[in-house]
Amino acid sequence: MVTGKDLPTRRDCLRVAATVSGGLATGTALVAAGALPRRGDGTAVPVRIADRIARGQAVAFAYPGPEDRALAVRLADGTLVGRSAVCTHLACALVHRPGHGPDGDLHCPCHGGGFDVRTGEVTGGPPPRALPKVLLTEDARGAVWAVGTARPGEDERAGLCRGLRARDPDTADRIGCEP
Ligand code: FES
Repeated sequence: MVTGKDLPTRRDCLRVAATVSGGLATGTALVAAGALPRRGDGTAVPVRIADRIARGQAVAFAYPGPEDRALAVRLADGTLVGRSAVCTHLACALVHRPGHGPDGDLHCPCHGGGFDVRTGEVTGGPPPRALPKVLLTEDARGAVWAVGTARPGEDERAGLCRGLRARDPDTADRIGCEP
């Protein structure tokens, strides 16, 4: 579990800015704008969640807030996926079960709910909705960072901008986030 002491320094964030993937270009812009590295400024700041995540490995962490359970999973093909680990039925904690399909699954022990690791879609049981995505990126040393969230059906840039606009609207305007 990641705690407040794991929040990044400015240098850490600049390193992330240099290596963030093209799909998260808005995250790069946020870091370059100096919008992210402050400690204790609420939700959706970047959080370093692991030094490295190997294929088939899952890491539990808290994001965007300290009480928000989340999971990062490295799939068999190398894809890194982040998901909320709060069941959309009655909010029990999800667990990753390797060996249930090629990438494992996300299982809810309370009432048997299940979710696809890759897509977050419901695969069984009573959960009514898919899981929100936690946006992840890796820095040059292979450390994994959570940098934002996206709701089901929301694209990554929109999710990053939503988080930024909630806490720093001036910077959201400066980097071109829609109002
Ligand atoms: S709380 Fe997860 S299936 Fe009910």
